[in-house]
Amino acid sequence: MQINPSILSADFANLESELSEIKTADMAHIDVMDNHFVPNLTIGQQVVARLAQVSPIPLDVHLMITDPDRWGPAYAEAGAASVTFHLEAVSEPMVLASKLRQAGARPAIAIKPGTSVSEIRSLLEHFDMLLVMTVEPGFGGQPLLVETLEKIAQARALIDSSGAKVSLQVDGGVTENNIAQLAELGADSFVAGSAIFNHPDRALEILKLRTLAENAAHKR
Ligand code: DX5
Ligand code: ZN
Repeated sequence: MQINPSILSADFANLESELSEIKTADMAHIDVMDNHFVPNLTIGQQVVARLAQVSPIPLDVHLMITDPDRWGPAYAEAGAASVTFHLEAVSEPMVLASKLRQAGARPAIAIKPGTSVSEIRSLLEHFDMLLVMTVEPGFGGQPLLVETLEKIAQARALIDSSGAKVSLQVDGGVTENNIAQLAELGADSFVAGSAIFNHPDRALEILKLRTLAENAAHKR
């Protein structure tokens, strides 16, 4: 069970100290947005490279950008441990996955709420992680879209039947109230932005989320 806090809800003027408060998490989730693939703009490769240098935990970079084929490898070179790009944006997913691996990062592929799980069936074995978005990408603090829940179960079934060792991540609206259900459906990696950074004690919230997910996963 991986708990990856999204720094989208952190204080962007104090990212180094914000990262130091989540050192008990597994990875820091970094949302890269280009104001084109999504209607919001965050940070780019230069800032990610500095975050990789100061972060106490590895970086899980989520690229919500157009043309990841062109811009993606730079994030692996910047020191990201994992780089996720969107199926809806990529031209040659297998080529990009291989370039990311060569540059030292684990490749992951993401699908938006409107994209069917069946669309990644033939690609799955080339990735270390599948991200099923549980909100429309672009902003933190949105409620989880309940219609995405069945996709988590479908993705888990697809991964299990493929025999590939692929992690299943959920991102968007993850809270103490729904993380157990998400784990029971088969997710094993949980991104949480506002749930963690809006909480005064980030370490306590990470522990709560982790405990809820682990207890639920044992029931599967
Ligand atoms: C949304 C981002 C998420 C976001 C999640 O497009 O990909 O990582 O930070 O934020 P919460 O957990 O607040 O929904
Ligand atoms: Zn994200």
